[in-house]
Amino acid sequence: MIPILVTGGAGYIGSHTCKALAQAGYRPIALDNLVYGHEWAVRWGPLVIGDISDRACLDAVIERHRPEAVVHFAAYAYVGESVRDPGRYYRNNVAGTLTLLEAMRDHAIPHIVFSSTCATYGIPERTPITEDHPQRPINPYGASKLMVERILADFEQAHGLRWIALRYFNAAGADPEGEIGEDHDPETHLIPLALQAVAGRGPRLQVFGTDYPTPDGSCIRDYIHVADLARAHVEGLAHLRAGAVSGAFNLGTGQGSSVLEVIAAIERVTGRPVPYEIGPRRPGDPPVLYADADKARRLLGWVPRYRTLDEIIEHAWRWHQSR
Ligand SMILES: NC(=O)c1ccc[n+]([C@@H]2O[C@H](COP(=O)([O-])OP(=O)(O)OC[C@H]3O[C@@H](n4cnc5c(N)ncnc54)[C@H](O)[C@@H]3O)[C@@H](O)[C@H]2O)c1
Repeated sequence: MIPILVTGGAGYIGSHTCKALAQAGYRPIALDNLVYGHEWAVRWGPLVIGDISDRACLDAVIERHRPEAVVHFAAYAYVGESVRDPGRYYRNNVAGTLTLLEAMRDHAIPHIVFSSTCATYGIPERTPITEDHPQRPINPYGASKLMVERILADFEQAHGLRWIALRYFNAAGADPEGEIGEDHDPETHLIPLALQAVAGRGPRLQVFGTDYPTPDGSCIRDYIHVADLARAHVEGLAHLRAGAVSGAFNLGTGQGSSVLEVIAAIERVTGRPVPYEIGPRRPGDPPVLYADADKARRLLGWVPRYRTLDEIIEHAWRWHQSR
């Protein structure tokens, strides 16, 4: 089995990707400092507890497991915190990635699949968003991810590293077989927060603004099933191994759902009311974000299997109830 180093492999999307990699015949080696990850989520290969900023740790993992490629999730991902404490984000997401890339260069690991984000686009000029849309992030989190995309291109030029940056829209759902799921602390994502409110395990859901220029006034986002995201990494690796060119790909369903539509879908799936209240807008939230993911379909052969909100919510709800 071909070993793949998965940084952040104990996190939400990383752990689902470890499962997809194992199912595709790879051996995922999860490297995670467990600041946000969970030991229980690492089930398809070894877990190395360590930090991407620790060069000696990277050298030891690489020498021991000899990975052929890296799938790089490890990062901090709280937008609001990145505004309050940008240094923490640039240090971890940018400087940490630089240490990882230099270790890859020195150990001649040729390929990386990187977790980028739709937050690199900032406020969109048009939707659906294509990969050539201008990238003007409006917070340090998005800026840190864009910087890494630029560094990847420079490492390719200088050292021949080949890369794929996957710009995820809103990751959601849980493993369809119920083995793992989302467990962020603090949780900031709409679907788990709404499910916590439904189950009486969290406060009333806050809806940030219903006065946007959208049909029902609430913000529209593109929710993509975590198992579909996971599969895209496997397809991205195959693409690199086949000698195809580096590049960035949007990952979304291409369909936008409003916050109020998500709430209605949760009520449909759970059969219970979502306790929520409407508050003011949050600064920096674009009204509408959804992907044009046609490039991933054409070049990676990737198409989302879970296309409806109800499927995504069903899996998230099943996971939520099992905990
Ligand atoms: N969840 C989303 O909707 C979404 C959207 C776009 C992009 N992303 C990106 O996808 C990636 C994974 O997101 P997630 O939701 O699974 O987050 P997560 O917090 O669940 O996973 C990130 C993992 O990285 C680990 N980590 C952080 N810094 C580390 C370091 N220096 N060394 C080793 N491990 C470290 C954390 O402990 C955690 O397990 C992140 O890079 C995030 O920016 C997520």
